Amino acid sequence: MKEIKRLKGINDILPGEAVAWQFIEDNARTIFEHYGYEQIRLPLIEYLDLFTRSIGETADIVQKEMYRFTDRAGRVIALRPEATAGVVRAYIENDLKREGLKKLYYSGAMFRGENPQAGRYRQFHQIGVEAIGSSSPYLDCEIIVMLDNFLQKNTLTNYEIILNNVGCLQDREKFSKHLKQILNPQIDLLCIDCRVRLTKNPLRIFDCKNAPCKKLLQNLPKISENICPDCAAHFTTVTKLLTDLNIRYIIDHNLVRGLDYYTKTVFEITHKELSAQNAICAGGRYDNLIAELGGTATGACGFALGVERLIIALKNTGFGKLTYNYPKVYIATLGDQTVNEGFNIWHALHQETISTTINYEGKSLKAKLRLANKQNALLVIILGENEMSAGTVMVKDMHTKSQDVVARENLVSYIKDRLNIPPICRSTGG
Ligand code: HAM
Repeated sequence: MKEIKRLKGINDILPGEAVAWQFIEDNARTIFEHYGYEQIRLPLIEYLDLFTRSIGETADIVQKEMYRFTDRAGRVIALRPEATAGVVRAYIENDLKREGLKKLYYSGAMFRGENPQAGRYRQFHQIGVEAIGSSSPYLDCEIIVMLDNFLQKNTLTNYEIILNNVGCLQDREKFSKHLKQILNPQIDLLCIDCRVRLTKNPLRIFDCKNAPCKKLLQNLPKISENICPDCAAHFTTVTKLLTDLNIRYIIDHNLVRGLDYYTKTVFEITHKELSAQNAICAGGRYDNLIAELGGTATGACGFALGVERLIIALKNTGFGKLTYNYPKVYIATLGDQTVNEGFNIWHALHQETISTTINYEGKSLKAKLRLANKQNALLVIILGENEMSAGTVMVKDMHTKSQDVVARENLVSYIKDRLNIPPICRSTGG
């Protein structure tokens, strides 16, 4: 029968790799909760409108990349391409504003039908935070400091924090008109996509990766130099706070971001280990989105980090040495007659919370010891038919290679001694 393969751009995360994911996810939980962020778990599918209204009709994600379908009842649904829109939807729908400034974090799969390449997949994973309910520039700074702390906890070095100010809606409207006036006479020099962008959302031209458009951009005015005093003051405070905290950043006047909901501060984290797809993480402030999706207007800021990209960036650090947390004890049964007794031992050890695994299959002792070694077992309990009839087992220390014969009734306490596990205090029920 023909083998069924995985879809293009959609990866399996195998056990050997999952250990890195666990490390990053554990760090996210530790760091974000340390700063008072609470976890939110959201659906993978939403009404398509949620994304068209928030990310913007003209954004590539909405135009070209979203997985959309109509269900049997005729509802138009999309697989989430990002999580900010879903978090805001949940914030409004569940009236989380009652609780004041709400600080949330999430992790999970996102879907974009992009052309797959290294660091760019169709199913990928983000870890992100969204803080909703404050317009303070201190919040922007808090989020960048926390992100910096998180990246360091993951042992990442040599990353760059890139910032820009995209102003408010009015600033962008004014600047878009200005851009149209400048670029309309030169429209033939733009790529096909940018010609459309020029009519629908000229700011997005700054995102274009095509050489002719990039060249043209060099001489264009920048949004950050054309914003109102309020937005300018906000950004000045953010950068001053970061400078005071010795957080190193670069300002890139061309950074505009591909999603429409941003206002004022936008940022990206880039790393040289990633080639074309060099953003590990991106985010910013989105002060209009809550009202645009039907909530009470309030300020918000957040970011999302691409886990696959962080892992690529970490590959050249000590990260590769992480190992899976395998059980300390490995039970090797030898022959069908010993399986049941091996199983009883396995159960007895687990009742004492000793992490243990067992292999029931008819492999040789040598093969089982090799597997135990691969899984970093400290002790292997060997149970052959001779041991069975003598009421004993053999315990092999995988470091010293020494072996002890242990009476079956003393086995649990022997293992606990060897692993330095203190006895469990059980209530006598009296
Ligand atoms: P984004 O820039 O679209 O922003 O994505 C954030 C990060 O997700 C990127 O920097 C990248 O690391 C990762 N990423 C995006 N697309 C892919 C892909 N196809 N394959 C692998 N990784 C990918 C957002 O999603 C916003 N929701 C961020 C945000 C949160 N802004 C405010 N709050």
